[in-house]
Amino acid sequence: MKRIVVLISGSGSNLQAIIDACQQGRIDGRLAAVFSNQADAYGLTRAREAGIPAHALDVRDFADREAFDQALMAEIDRYAPDLVVLAGYMRILSPAFVQHWQGRMLNIHPSLLPRYPGLHTHRRAIANGDEQHGTSVHFVTEELDGGPVILQARVPIFAQDSEAEVAARVQHQEHAIYPLVVSWFMQGRLTLRDGAAWLDGQRLPPQGYAGE
Ligand code: GAR
Repeated sequence: MKRIVVLISGSGSNLQAIIDACQQGRIDGRLAAVFSNQADAYGLTRAREAGIPAHALDVRDFADREAFDQALMAEIDRYAPDLVVLAGYMRILSPAFVQHWQGRMLNIHPSLLPRYPGLHTHRRAIANGDEQHGTSVHFVTEELDGGPVILQARVPIFAQDSEAEVAARVQHQEHAIYPLVVSWFMQGRLTLRDGAAWLDGQRLPPQGYAGE
């Protein structure tokens, strides 16, 4: 069975969605390990409760970003993952880290990329008066939140919405689309080629596929 390693920094609700999908057979793969840069991330508890090895690395133990990423890379490689899944992993990745799993690393970002790379995406969408917002699953490349989009889900923003309401609406969609994209990858249907994402041998449009 193919192996998945997940990286988190926080609550791990997307990790939980992937755990559930593996347990229910919706993903044909096994979660080999979970890593966090935050020792108190609740996602580590979720992993341990599911019987998945869970590890934290402390950035303060390392001289710089490259040293931290090299150590994390070596730790992850002990599990020989077929796929590395970033699920709310809130650290900029060094180029060496990205290159190591090029075409084998996914991220989920809470916006309709290419809109709103970076932080505070919900707040920025509300401030701009956007009526639509969403989330994107993409291959990780060296450009921050800039890799080819695979699948997006859209949600409305209503006039009186708070940031928390929008975030909750987006997260609900994330829990549906992230396990789905992981399942495609595990089935060998999804690849990164010529700087684009391909599904079932078809090149996906640059902004990804927005569903039915
Ligand atoms: C998710 O909404 C994800 O899109 C976002 O962090 C949240 C993690 O939630 N990721 C980023 O902002 C990456 N730039 P979770 O820990 O409950 O899965």
